[in-house]
Amino acid sequence: MSQYDVIIIGAGPGGYVSAIRCAQLGLKTAVVEGRDTLGGTCLNVGCIPSKALLHATHNLHDAQHNFAGMGLKGKAPSVDWEQMKTYKSEVVGQNTGGIEFLFKKNKIDWIKGWATIPAAGKVQVGETTYETKNIVIASGSEAASLPGVEIDEKIVVTSTGALDLPKVPKKMVVIGAGVIGLELGSVYARLGSDVTVVEYMDAITPGMDKDVQRTFKRILEKQGLKFVMGAAVSGVETTKTKAKVSYALKKTPDATEVLDADVVLVATGRKPFTDGLGLEALGVKMTERGQIATDAHWATNVAGVYAIGDVIEGPMLAHKAEDEGMAVAEVIAGKHGHVNYGVIPGVVYTTPEVATVGQTEDALKAAGTKPKVGKFSFMGNARAKAIGQSEGFVKIIADAETDRVLGAAIIGPAAGDMIHEICVAMEFGASAEDIALTCHAHPTYSEAVREAALACGDGPIHA
Ligand code: NAI
Repeated sequence: MSQYDVIIIGAGPGGYVSAIRCAQLGLKTAVVEGRDTLGGTCLNVGCIPSKALLHATHNLHDAQHNFAGMGLKGKAPSVDWEQMKTYKSEVVGQNTGGIEFLFKKNKIDWIKGWATIPAAGKVQVGETTYETKNIVIASGSEAASLPGVEIDEKIVVTSTGALDLPKVPKKMVVIGAGVIGLELGSVYARLGSDVTVVEYMDAITPGMDKDVQRTFKRILEKQGLKFVMGAAVSGVETTKTKAKVSYALKKTPDATEVLDADVVLVATGRKPFTDGLGLEALGVKMTERGQIATDAHWATNVAGVYAIGDVIEGPMLAHKAEDEGMAVAEVIAGKHGHVNYGVIPGVVYTTPEVATVGQTEDALKAAGTKPKVGKFSFMGNARAKAIGQSEGFVKIIADAETDRVLGAAIIGPAAGDMIHEICVAMEFGASAEDIALTCHAHPTYSEAVREAALACGDGPIHA
């Protein structure tokens, strides 16, 4: 049996990216993956299929609501749900196939099956034990369960089931107004479902900038989503085709309310997936929250065993896992891997998109500092007006004394792409003035970023 330099467990964005970087650095690399296709949750049942459905249904919404006003007359398209799912599967296939191609190109072995780690330096898959100098655990996460709620992936579904429903439900209840709930809730609302989101907290997308939370909720309500806020779901009862969701409002905890649904989407968070790896027997230290404990170089307490992505602490985001994947490869190759956790953007791919990075105004104020805030509405952005998406704004948060950019929040067109201008600025320690002095092409949405930067100084032009 040949000896590997690295065996990576899991071929999601953390694992496959790490494998490619390991191979590029000259390490003999294998990846263990038990799914039939590479790419993990993100490519198979997460980010990518949901983006295909968001794109298709956004076009539907545009045709139904905005085409006539632009002079595009005629009957709005009807939905062929089977074809939409085929389109989604084709998008997934192109992406997962692309990773397989990259593995071959980089001479990475794909060991098919589910891995156990019987000892440091050994990875067992089925009957075969492979020898390796290093192991990287990148086994990702799974939907967290909710007490009193049994998932059957038919009537009570996680995001996985929600991406593949046999038909568009008439009534959908979404538990949790986080990223998954709002993205998939948007998809079904656009397809004509009556969608109610039940959220425990008093604001959607907990932890996000408060201004964004308010504006985002208002826009989603206009799009037809209903919200029940401050409500804890206590159980879901199902018959063969229907469900009843019980919840209690925090202000009236003794009164149980009930919502009927054809489908219930449980989107109340995810938890690390480490089943079957044999971590307990191996003596791998875990955190109190069930994550694998690692040091600043992604090393566990067991020599030669590393962990990255959703199984360790930090935001459960594909791009955070990718960064760690590249960095741990550098560490294993004897170089200096680094991830700047202060500059990891977060994006919600609704319409409009929502994107954030760095610190929030509220967190800075709570910490006793007085940030400088520059805000600019897309109402003053010509390009956003031209596409009928002028709701929303860009908000830049800078240090009041040094003008250094500390964070940003954008709700508006292409927010998920525009946030990276701020990310680069933050990586270079730029000031808001640096962004304000940078020429931005006209007419672009990104002019709103410059205007928000100007709002941190002498003022924006178009406000
Ligand atoms: P989340 O943590 O974003 O949101 C869960 C929501 O459920 C929270 O608002 C929470 O207050 C609420 N909740 C929890 N228990 C509840 C109860 N009993 N009753 C009512 N509400 C309850 O989790 P989500 O949306 O499931 O996403 C999981 C992970 O996947 C997150 O880390 C997310 O960042 C990631 N993800 C990222 C995407 C992106 O970057 N666009 C897309 C999809 C997922």
